[in-house]
Amino acid sequence: MHIKASAPGKVILFGEHSVVYGKPAIAVAVKKYAHITIKERVDLQINLEIMGLGVLASLNLEDETISCKNNRMETGILKYVLKALKLIQDKGPTKGMDILLEIEMPVGAGLGSSAAVTVATIAAANKYYETDLKLDEIAKLAHQVELEVQGAASPIDTTLSTYGGALYLGRNTNRIEKLPLNWELPLVIGHTPRESNTAELIKKVHSKMEEYPSIIYHIFKSMEQITEEARDALIEKNEKKLAELMNINHGLLDALGVNTPVLSEMVYAARETGALGSKITGAGGGGSIIAYCPVKIEEVLRKLQKIENAFKAHITYEGVCTNIKE
Ligand code: PMV
Repeated sequence: MHIKASAPGKVILFGEHSVVYGKPAIAVAVKKYAHITIKERVDLQINLEIMGLGVLASLNLEDETISCKNNRMETGILKYVLKALKLIQDKGPTKGMDILLEIEMPVGAGLGSSAAVTVATIAAANKYYETDLKLDEIAKLAHQVELEVQGAASPIDTTLSTYGGALYLGRNTNRIEKLPLNWELPLVIGHTPRESNTAELIKKVHSKMEEYPSIIYHIFKSMEQITEEARDALIEKNEKKLAELMNINHGLLDALGVNTPVLSEMVYAARETGALGSKITGAGGGGSIIAYCPVKIEEVLRKLQKIENAFKAHITYEGVCTNIKE
């Protein structure tokens, strides 16, 4: 038996970091996927390969260890697979498997690779172990995996990888609303390897918050207002306002200390080349930027590709899907 599951990545349009402090956020799922294929085994061994990277590993769910000779950045993703399998196996029978992982998006660049891998793993294992989890339970379990592996995480990434689409997460993420976006956002994503991970960047912002509480409080308040106004601008297709809000949001992320010289270079090069708005997306510290390009999208793409890596983002309205072949 072969089980395949695929889940999309995401970009955060507004609200990164402030969402950790209970403020709203807006994000969209993008057509870059993590695919996982599970092949049945008769023994209890769990083997894993990451396609195209020569990463071969074996996972031990008993003592939660990973043996892997390769020390590439992508191997960090295996912790999410291990934790996801561990949590789901606690609900079902013990069975070994061969796992093949294929990751289309750049790993660790703020584009939701870990959430996509986690959601796809849970969805595939759900079929394999016949645990009969519903979509909302998959999303919840995936968020728990991210929390356990990273220490801190909002449910944005895992929710988008599960359901796809464009989502608004209300205050304290107590309300998740599908945004009625009936137009294709012309976005370019520029990405660069990250120097620090999400958990470290969240900690960095937290230290700023402790050092300058009333200043940072007002930055988060402004970010909240930006997200609220951006929600309306997106629904009304108010392009000028949307772009301006992105630019203001970028300045505030810079003030939080999560910008880097390369991200800055990409953000301003995009605007000079014709993007109406551009900002960091995700935790920062390296990682990615988004450029909003109703005009000159090809020019912006080429410019960002000259500086680092870039691609055009297409929103997907489909979340995780699974496929079983006997
Ligand atoms: O891990 P990233 O780069 O997709 O960014 C996450 C965004 C944060 O708001 C910083 C953290 C979170 O979990 O929402």
